[in-house]
Amino acid sequence: MTIAPPDPRLTGLVTENTQLIGGEWVPAASGQTIEVLDPATGETLLHVPRGNASDVDAAVSAAAAAFPKWRDTSPTFRAGLLMRWAELIDKHEQEIDRLEISEVGRPHWGPLPMSRMLTYFAGQADKVHGLSLPTHTPDVLGLTLREPYGVVGGIIPWNAPGPNFVMDVGPAIAAGNTIVIKPAEDAPLTPLALARLAMQAGIPPGVINVVTGYGPEAGAAIPAHPGISRMSFTGSPATGSAVMAACARNHTPLHLELGGKSPQVLLDDADVDAAIPQLTRGITHNSGQICAAGSRLVVDRKIHAEVVRKLREAFARVRVGPGTEQVDMGPLISAKQHQRVLGYLKVGREEGAELVTGGGVPAGEKFERGFFVEPTIFDQVRPDMRIAQEEIFGPVLSVLPVDGDEEALEVANGTEYGLVASVWTSDIGRAVRMVRGLQAGQVAVNQWLSGGVIGAPFGGYRGSGFGRTMGADSVLSYTQVKTVSIRGTR
Ligand code: NAI
Ligand code: MG
Repeated sequence: MTIAPPDPRLTGLVTENTQLIGGEWVPAASGQTIEVLDPATGETLLHVPRGNASDVDAAVSAAAAAFPKWRDTSPTFRAGLLMRWAELIDKHEQEIDRLEISEVGRPHWGPLPMSRMLTYFAGQADKVHGLSLPTHTPDVLGLTLREPYGVVGGIIPWNAPGPNFVMDVGPAIAAGNTIVIKPAEDAPLTPLALARLAMQAGIPPGVINVVTGYGPEAGAAIPAHPGISRMSFTGSPATGSAVMAACARNHTPLHLELGGKSPQVLLDDADVDAAIPQLTRGITHNSGQICAAGSRLVVDRKIHAEVVRKLREAFARVRVGPGTEQVDMGPLISAKQHQRVLGYLKVGREEGAELVTGGGVPAGEKFERGFFVEPTIFDQVRPDMRIAQEEIFGPVLSVLPVDGDEEALEVANGTEYGLVASVWTSDIGRAVRMVRGLQAGQVAVNQWLSGGVIGAPFGGYRGSGFGRTMGADSVLSYTQVKTVSIRGTR
């Protein structure tokens, strides 16, 4: 097989056909590769190894070999390495940004979050402590120790590959675990580049192992491996179930982050003009391909007409194009997601929702090759419609008019998901009641997401999964508790 030279748009941080196992940059044992595409053009950016169970097995062995020494390092030393890694990410920020833009198709959206995530986790590394326990008699001491699990596994999606990689790797290794992680086949380059910087920072070989490959091959092999002692998975509910079933066979604990159908609830006293830009961004940011996308607008009928009119105007101003240009919204990640989202646009029409704007592929030559879709609003969506229930993972907003706060709450909670929710109101009492009533892992008042908050735990209620990342106990969640009792014998 002949392999094209790396795309000149890429940085020296990624090389053709390599994954990271035991500190070595290696191809797959099978020699097979996967093409990574530029979603704005459909052109090949680079090839990565098509790893499978034998690559995962090699990675688990390398991680297991590295574990005892890594576990026994001073946590202060581990924190220092994470800080050094964060510094290198800052130093290479433009290259990393460019890489993520190339493979995800998103535009530049400001400073990358990865280095500050790592410094946050580094700060927790040497604050993992157990308890001293009361005892019935003075000749006994009772303690708890927090110990790492050993080799942990991670499977991450393609929508925010840099943050997703750091979110799993950072806390896991800060706690003294070693990790085998599989990036998504559609966006493995940013994780590979970050892993290269981790090695340059001095994180020892085998502590971080990155196996690239397809889900049913390399992905499925991770939770199935008996050497994995804790898992994390971010992605679709169906794959999450498969990962959890594999974990059940080995009694492996895990956390799951499975997306959402997150409501933006506008009560009749909402500050509409303040809301419009965030409602727009909430569903067009990353082309709607984020688990926390505000994909349902639950709006009181008293302000419904005004809100839809202003939203239509705001959507018309969303600039769509390749992420390398000055745009607000790039393409979708892949042909598969393109078909999926276009399919939902058809479903919405067939279900009888009113198309307000968008609804297809934007017109124009530059949109013909990539995986573009217009920012779309469907109005008069009923709670039982598929476009009100199912995660579309595209820039498609479903507007559900309601009468009063009680119906708003019922509709907002009326899906299987519960990842994030927003309520917009000028009345503190109504806000408090909605905050209490909304079934979601994060509730925001008068904003979309937890902007401005440091260390906001992230994760789902109900069908959106379980477990929390990003918060003050991120590192603790990668430890297990050992109770110790010590009795003096003389
Ligand atoms: P997916 O859940 O299939 O892929 C996510 C990750 O799981 C990727 O790394 C993939 O290679 C891996 N994977 C796939 N099958 C696997 C298996 N059998 N065993 C182990 N790992 C496996 O999601 P996909 O197909 O990329 O997207 C489909 C839909 O999933 C999206 O439209 C969206 O609704 C949802 N999704 C949600 C995400 C979130 O952030 N919660 C992220 C990505 C997708
Ligand atoms: Mg899949």
